[in-house]
Amino acid sequence: MIIGGGLISRPYEKVVLVCIHGRTCPRQGSLETCEALREAVSTAGLTDKIRIVKSGCLAQCGHGPMVAIEPDGSWYGSVTAKDAEELFSGPILCGTILERLRHQPKRHGKNVIAPDQWTIPPSKE
Ligand code: FES
Repeated sequence: MIIGGGLISRPYEKVVLVCIHGRTCPRQGSLETCEALREAVSTAGLTDKIRIVKSGCLAQCGHGPMVAIEPDGSWYGSVTAKDAEELFSGPILCGTILERLRHQPKRHGKNVIAPDQWTIPPSKE
């Protein structure tokens, strides 16, 4: 996205947020998901174009590990390290939709599953 004078509109074409600090995602393996996505980006030689960011809670607790791809605005849940390559080669790289993992909340904002319905024990964070 080159503007006049060689300036670009933003430093990365895509920023991918991976929740690793909330009450549920870390217990569902989000750090491993994050590392696997970073590995995929690095292997593809795209670290100057795609930034994988360790994020705080995205307020979708219980649906994780949560991954948000911006500026696409596509969000994914239950993304494990095993899903990283598929998420990278499709939604992150090509902007396609991976229906199997697509997060489709019923409303905007917080979509936190009640702790008594979590499949993992809540942390103390
Ligand atoms: S812990 Fe990941 S969305 Fe809240």
